[in-house]
Amino acid sequence: MAVIVFESNAGHTENYGRMLGEILNIPVYSNQHAKGVLGKGEEVFFMGWLCAETVKGYKKAAKTYDLCGVCAVGMTPPEVVDIDQLKRKNEINGKPFFYLQGGLEPDKLSGIYKKMMAVAASSLKKGEAKGTLSPKDAQMIALLKAGGSCVKEENLRPIVEWWGQS
Ligand SMILES: Cc1cc2nc3c(=O)[nH]c(=O)nc-3n(C[C@H](O)[C@H](O)[C@H](O)COP(=O)(O)O)c2cc1C
Repeated sequence: MAVIVFESNAGHTENYGRMLGEILNIPVYSNQHAKGVLGKGEEVFFMGWLCAETVKGYKKAAKTYDLCGVCAVGMTPPEVVDIDQLKRKNEINGKPFFYLQGGLEPDKLSGIYKKMMAVAASSLKKGEAKGTLSPKDAQMIALLKAGGSCVKEENLRPIVEWWGQS
């Protein structure tokens, strides 16, 4: 039986992972915890947060486990996210791939990621003042300003449906 392993910084991916585990009635582990509990080659559905278009934790998880599917969680709205680009960048081939919108709650960020987001926000704000933002960046700054979480159980529907069919 597959289990869920997640890598989360501010908690959105963890929330999705735990919700999905409850719906599918399967165990859920953080990537850190999984190291001590799961063996090499175990069947895993991996969920990782997006940092500069990298699905955090994916590369190691792909080497360690038998991944039956991958889900990236980012702040980009699903209607504008470039799935092919994400798969290419993260070298995710031949596996079911899903994307979920998490959120952006700067107060929940920890470590270097808090600083990285502050730098990105300041550069976006400069671009906004100069009127040089791309449409995608304009959307990002709107998200940064609004903040908050987009985590909703209904967002998991495509994964739950796929799971039921596989
Ligand atoms: C340093 C940093 C870089 C990020 N890069 C991206 C990105 O490239 N694409 C994206 O959609 N979201 C990006 N995000 C937003 C996070 O992926 C989003 O907040 C996600 O919900 C975080 O999940 P978590 O709460 O499980 O850590 C970034 C966030 C931070 C802090």
